[in-house]
Amino acid sequence: MTFRTLQGADLSSKTALVRVDFNVPMENGQITDDTRLRAALPTINLLSKAGAKVVLLAHFDRPKGKRVPEMSLKPVLPALSKLVGQNVAWADDCIGADAKAVIDGLKAGGVALLENLRYHAGEEKNDPAFAAELAKLGDIYVNDAFSAAHRAHASTEGVAKLLPAYPGLSMERELSALDAALGNPQRPVIGIVGGSKVSTKLDLLKNLVTKLDKLAIGGGMANTFLYAQGHDVGASYCEKDLAETAREIIRLAGQNNCKLFLPIDIVVAEQMARGVPTRVRGLGSVDEHERILDAGPETVARLKRAMANSKTLIWNGPLGVFEIPPFDKGTVEAAKEAARLAKAGELVAVAGGGDTVSAMHHAGVAADLTFISTAGGAFLEWMEGKELPGVEALKV
Ligand code: 3PG
Repeated sequence: MTFRTLQGADLSSKTALVRVDFNVPMENGQITDDTRLRAALPTINLLSKAGAKVVLLAHFDRPKGKRVPEMSLKPVLPALSKLVGQNVAWADDCIGADAKAVIDGLKAGGVALLENLRYHAGEEKNDPAFAAELAKLGDIYVNDAFSAAHRAHASTEGVAKLLPAYPGLSMERELSALDAALGNPQRPVIGIVGGSKVSTKLDLLKNLVTKLDKLAIGGGMANTFLYAQGHDVGASYCEKDLAETAREIIRLAGQNNCKLFLPIDIVVAEQMARGVPTRVRGLGSVDEHERILDAGPETVARLKRAMANSKTLIWNGPLGVFEIPPFDKGTVEAAKEAARLAKAGELVAVAGGGDTVSAMHHAGVAADLTFISTAGGAFLEWMEGKELPGVEALKV
């Protein structure tokens, strides 16, 4: 696939419409995690230094085509100005005379943020008329919002067809890291998929067993696989109605020579609470009042060996209830080993998805992995092997 690239492009005196993802967590009007603002800085700085006017397009939450004041992007402005190092201009609307006046008033290298795209119903409908209104405001289009690329919206898809379209620097980095993990990985490649529900990750598991050499399944969803194999899971969370689906995934893995790693021992407790007494159990020896809440030491040791014997790791979802110690132990130990191998240059280690990012921060390894994707839905859809409309639209 080929993309245009911003490096070397003639950007001076151009107005660049830059789609960013500023859908940041907020509490009482304050940003609690500015990772997504920071992710946009390299692209903003490159365009600004090259003398382009930088016009930021973004959504916040899901106002469904209405001007919902609590979903304004304006509270993002002070933090953004600080990070960019200049006053970012503000427009009360993302199309029309308001937006045009603000953009006309920018100096070369100036930056503006436009109000929530989703105040207009045409955004999510990918309405061609709305996309044309956006396109009127700029000369080129840059998409730096991988985490919104699974949406076929006017600002992620429609407008890309109307202007010369470029991936931003964060988007480029994300695409090349993901390609190194699943597109053209160094083999053997191992996946870790955890989290509580098999039901939300069916497509993902079915795709991964056709692509990976090894796949470790952990977290609550492993209980469903253990149950499907006839093991007692006591009072554990388990999607018993998906037992046949779990068996189908096991069969598919076999047909595709993907070696499955299911837990061989587990950590159980009678309550899911901080600091409660725990026991390590072998398979088939879980009491009826016990719940499986983490991977056992043998399981983690085997996973660490499997990672050490791999060249690439792709990780989505924790191995246990990592938010509640001591059930974070399996996830933390495995994450530390992934980080050690990545730092030593022995493993390309890519992790992504909301919970996974928190788990990697909790384990203190976020900076040591090869790449962490902060995209939620987009990362999952990409792992499912689906085409992302926002990425497809950038191809030339
Ligand atoms: C996200 O936060 O994952 C993206 O901004 C997409 O948001 P959406 O799920 O509301 O489209």
